[in-house]
Parts: sequence; C-alpha cells; structure tokens
Amino acid sequence: MADLLVKLYDLQFTDIYPDNLKENGIEIRRSLVPEKLLVSAWVNKTFGAAWASECEVSFAQQPVSCFVAIKSGQLLGFSCYNATFKGFLGPIGVEPKYRFIGIGKVLLLSCLKAMAYQGYAYAIIGSIGAKDFFDQSITTFEIPDSSPGAYKGILKYHD
Ligand SMILES: CC(C)(COP(=O)(O)OP(=O)(O)OC[C@H]1O[C@@H](n2cnc3c(N)ncnc32)[C@H](O)[C@@H]1OP(=O)(O)O)[C@@H](O)C(=O)NCCC(=O)NCCS
Repeated sequence: MADLLVKLYDLQFTDIYPDNLKENGIEIRRSLVPEKLLVSAWVNKTFGAAWASECEVSFAQQPVSCFVAIKSGQLLGFSCYNATFKGFLGPIGVEPKYRFIGIGKVLLLSCLKAMAYQGYAYAIIGSIGAKDFFDQSITTFEIPDSSPGAYKGILKYHD
C-alpha cells in the first residue's frame, strides 16, 4: 500500500464538526497527558500493540498529538500525528459500532488542522489501510514508489 500526500494548505477547516455528532453528545478534542494509559490501553485492545506504541509517543509531544472521540466518558476513536515519523498522520481508528457516522473524518481533519497550525504544508498518510475512507474525506495524492515505505522491515507482534 502506497503512502498518500495531503496538501494542508488547500484544506478547508471550517465546519468540520457535523451537527449529528454534537446532537449525539460525541465530543472530539485533543487528548491530555493524564489520559495516556487509558487511551493506549483502549488502542491496544481495539487495534493492537503496534498502534498503541505509536499512540503512546503522541502523548510525549507538546502539544499532545493525539485526538480522541468521546461519548458519556467512553472512548470511541482516536487519531495521531507525528507519532512514528514527523509529518505523518496516523494511526487513526474508530470503535466498530460507531463507524460511518462521521467520527473518523472529524478525527482526521482535527489532526490535519493541528498540523497546518503547527506549520506543516503537507501531511503524509503512511501505508494506508482504508483508502476509501481517505478518498471520501479529503483529496490525497499517491506518492510514487512509496510501498514498502518508511515502515519497511518493521518487526511484527505475535500473540
Ligand atoms: C477508517 C476508519 C477510521 C473510518 O472511520 P469512520 O468514523 O467510519 O469514518 P467516517 O464515518 O468519518 O467516514 C467518512 C467518509 O468515508 C466513508 N468511509 C468510511 N469508511 C469507509 C470504508 N471502509 N469504505 C468506504 N467508505 C468509507 C464514509 O462513508 C464517509 O463518506 P461520506 O462523507 O461520503 O459520507 C474506521 O473504519 C476504522 O477505524 N477502521 C479500522 C482502522 C483503519 O483501517 N484505520 C486507517 C488505517 S491508516
């Protein structure tokens, strides 16, 4: 799977929070350092140890480079940037029962907006696993010869 390039300077960041999420009490915000173990444990349980490792690094950044989706004190999703590589967006994931209602798109745009405000002109989405989601949410450009990319040869966790 190829990496994708995102032109941050072309994105519109107004009205990224749709009414249906607000009306359903779903909040999306930057996470806080005291939430690190809670968020990484949830990511580990839901998506595995590799993503939890990346997520933990995002909590070592200032400001924290992890956004979370929350409803009634329950975590529904997360997204990170500057975790494994500078300028990279990801990982991103939403609780299966809460998919297809717009949470992933707001998490994605929240990270991209934060990157734009931190001075990045471009973001890279590494070895994407949900191309249709990214295609539906933003304009991206496939980076030639980027597979296998920067994650080439990474050690895999075994059960
Ligand atoms: C990818 C993921 C984060 C999307 O989260 P989500 O909350 O369901 O996404 P949204 O509801 O915000 O979807 C935004 C748009 O993408 C579309 N979309 C989302 N997932 C899709 C899929 N698997 N196939 C096709 N379209 C998809 C939605 O229909 C929506 O389109 P619309 O704006 O035209 O209505 C979620 O499916 C997930 O956690 N997947 C497993 C982890 C993963 O693969 N992460 C990406 C790895 S790089």
